[in-house]
Amino acid sequence: LTVDWDAGHYDTGGYEHYLLKEISEQPETMTRTMSGRLDERFHVAHLGGLNMDARETRSFRRVKIIGCGSAYYSGQIGAQLIEELARIPADAEPASEFRYRNPVVDPNTLYVAISQSGETYDTLAAVQELKRKGGRVIGIVNAVGSAIAREVDGGIYLHAGPEVSVASTKAFTSTSVAFALLALHLGRVRDLSPADGRRIVEGLRRLPGQIEEILTQGDKIAELARKYAKHASMMFVGRVRGYPVAREGAQKLKEISYVHAEAYPASELKHGPLALIGPDMPTVAIVPDDELLDKNLTTLGEIRARGGQVLMVGHREPESKLADDVIVIPKNEIELDPILLTIPLQLLAYHAAVALDRDVDKPRNLAKSVTVE
Ligand code: AGP
Repeated sequence: LTVDWDAGHYDTGGYEHYLLKEISEQPETMTRTMSGRLDERFHVAHLGGLNMDARETRSFRRVKIIGCGSAYYSGQIGAQLIEELARIPADAEPASEFRYRNPVVDPNTLYVAISQSGETYDTLAAVQELKRKGGRVIGIVNAVGSAIAREVDGGIYLHAGPEVSVASTKAFTSTSVAFALLALHLGRVRDLSPADGRRIVEGLRRLPGQIEEILTQGDKIAELARKYAKHASMMFVGRVRGYPVAREGAQKLKEISYVHAEAYPASELKHGPLALIGPDMPTVAIVPDDELLDKNLTTLGEIRARGGQVLMVGHREPESKLADDVIVIPKNEIELDPILLTIPLQLLAYHAAVALDRDVDKPRNLAKSVTVE
């Protein structure tokens, strides 16, 4: 079931669609998410809204993240950030599944609920179930004073401003930044070194300028979108940090252009979906410059050997002809790169939807906020 939305009095600020406005706003929205929360002296994040002292912050043995749709995919990015920076086991699950499986609620687990609107019924119901069982729940929420924000024990507001377009963009990247802050916070009361804390703080500070740089590639990405949107179906692949990015890219494309898209871990291709690859199904490959670069380049070769076209999103042109097209973006710290890798995929989906003359801001069958079961 879905509900209607109302754009109310917000205007598109001179952009053709709310979605393009919201994509373009990300340098500022992300800056607001970080504002007043980064400490350059001790290389920590100040998150007073969590309502937790250092002893309690150290006490959690696991982190469980819940959210729906794109919020869930940003939770997968968050889980990886927490594991990498704080070395606490963390995982994400769709809130809509979590609430129906009678979850075991553990007092040593920190539960994190993500929601742009703060009104998604499945996420709210999962939070209520957690609270009823005595779980400690924090929220990462955009809408101030929303139902989920009122229900949780504490949290992090995104301060991304109203998101009108049904497809989430600026809330997705701000949520990922909020997770980087949370991971830094959890990490620095544990074993994350001051040097690594500094590296992350400095990386976060670089993000807005790097997004500006990516946005300047809008025309090139629009051209690529027109080329690839001719296909009925597309594959998105990424490994480890790149996998949630691939899932979010596929989600954006499906949602607003109605082009069928599948997302798989690149390592899983040979276990089934490789059978789909051929001239009719191009692949968008997320290939960051990290320790998995060689593995990812091998995957590109396997796709090309089956006649599949490859659009690579990464940090440099591959040496041999492993991709038909490449979108090169600026490099940050490896843990923060997924945030930047998402931006070209938002633009790709946006321009594909425009090329196919879709109702970009209000795609069929969907609502901005799903407040019913
Ligand atoms: C994102 O593009 C989607 N429209 C959708 O998956 C959305 O993220 C999901 O419904 C969760 O919404 P929320 O963040 O408001 O809870």
